[in-house]
Amino acid sequence: MADAFILGIESSCDETAAAVIRNGEQILSSVVFSQIFTHMPYGGVVPELASREHLKAIVPVVRKAIEDAGRSYDNIDAIAVTRGPGLTGALLVGISYAKALSFALDKPLIGVNHLEGHIHAVLLELRQHGHHQVQFPVLALVVSGGHTHLYLAEEKDAAWTYRDIGHTRDDAAGEAFDKVAKLLGLGYPGGPIIDRLAKHGDPQAVKFSFAQMKHRDRNPKNQHADAESRVDFSYSGIKTAVLRYVELNNMRAAIEERRAALKAIAKPTPDEYLRLCDKQTLDLVASFQRSVVNDLVSKTFHAATENNVSTLLVTGGVAANAELRETFERRGSEEGLPVYFPSRPLSTDNAAMIAAAAYPRFLAGDFAAPDLNAEANLRLR
Ligand code: KG4
Ligand code: ZN
Repeated sequence: MADAFILGIESSCDETAAAVIRNGEQILSSVVFSQIFTHMPYGGVVPELASREHLKAIVPVVRKAIEDAGRSYDNIDAIAVTRGPGLTGALLVGISYAKALSFALDKPLIGVNHLEGHIHAVLLELRQHGHHQVQFPVLALVVSGGHTHLYLAEEKDAAWTYRDIGHTRDDAAGEAFDKVAKLLGLGYPGGPIIDRLAKHGDPQAVKFSFAQMKHRDRNPKNQHADAESRVDFSYSGIKTAVLRYVELNNMRAAIEERRAALKAIAKPTPDEYLRLCDKQTLDLVASFQRSVVNDLVSKTFHAATENNVSTLLVTGGVAANAELRETFERRGSEEGLPVYFPSRPLSTDNAAMIAAAAYPRFLAGDFAAPDLNAEANLRLR
């Protein structure tokens, strides 16, 4: 069969990305334009600004992906685009552009679920290394700024189907990293900053109790029959516990000083962040990260055992975290369960994963209708 070249487009949050992938396994190009510096002064993603930045970036980013791949628009076989979940206005920029390209070039359009994209970031790199088959059942932890989801995946007629066996009841893990960083005057995005700073603190210094990590859902609507076998995450309690620690230890003034000092630096370096943190802050950050990582790892392995899982995939922005990767790897080798991650650049949002996820759909002729629309709350099934 002739090679298939798929152009992927991703614009669900604060990265405008495009990539060209050959046969779902070879990355010919992957361009990611991050809007971090646009949102930094606001301490989080501002949806209106995200849409505006996507509008500015989409044409050059796609053009660069085509050029880097050494292709032209004419010799692309299909266009894949993220249809959700994400910010509606941001998603619409990618979708509108993908539709226009599909119409103008007369090439099929494929709508991709962003969460399935994250899962395919792992599969894409496994295939690159000649690893074409994973053992089912597969358990995938998607842990990012918007999601903390455990999916049990099975393969049916070459397509994967997913069962949501656990998710966060409140904040996503990445969201907790971002909120804690903001609260400590460390700015946005919190994950990569906390990851670097945590290495310099004592992770045993502050004890976060299990009760702070647990959310009791008393809403009868959420009391499912299979509640016993579900795994639930909750990260808003630990954020509140960090806030309480800050208040009790009179850290406010130091935090405001740090916030002002960082504001005055256009692009702070890791050393500048470190210089602006005292030991107490570093210990707090390290203890926070250790608690979140241990909670993610223990609940995921619990679910893996309960469901007799043969392969574990860990993906999404938070999968870039060094301590998370080390802890999952150690536990995986102790328990004899293979654990796979994407490389760091493919852990956070990118379009290579979108083009890779589209490949099985391309083979199956599963194309989107011209009325493809953004679905902010799209689920993975
Ligand atoms: O997958 P992603 O790029 O976007 C979403 O789909 O949400 O994930 C972004 C999230 C942010 O919350 C960011 O703080 C977090 O991933 N993140 C990290 C690291 N790198 C990114 N969290 C912890 N450690 C990191 N190294
Ligand atoms: Zn993502």
